[in-house]
Amino acid sequence: MAEFVRVATRSEIPPGGKLLAEIDGRAIAVFNYEGTYYAIDDVCTHDGGPLAEGDFEGCEIRCPRHGARFDVRTGQALCFPAIEPVTAHQVEVRGDEILVAIED
Ligand code: FES
Repeated sequence: MAEFVRVATRSEIPPGGKLLAEIDGRAIAVFNYEGTYYAIDDVCTHDGGPLAEGDFEGCEIRCPRHGARFDVRTGQALCFPAIEPVTAHQVEVRGDEILVAIED
């Protein structure tokens, strides 16, 4: 079973905020959408763009490289040029801490 790893405190990611974390050398983008935290791989499935550097609006992150958009809640690709989803990871909040468990 995947182990939850602390990535941030709640105050570090306010609503509408995002943060780049690293777990076991894997880049993970963590988002606060309307008070709930979500985590996805930070690597765009189109050509590897760094998603956490993109614009975050509503529940969508826009890849800064060619503009593909993903739903941060599920990792689903919402428009071209990305077709494949990015992997979404489980998030847990314990007190003031945000933890993420990596899915393979
Ligand atoms: S690398 Fe993300 S849209 Fe091309």
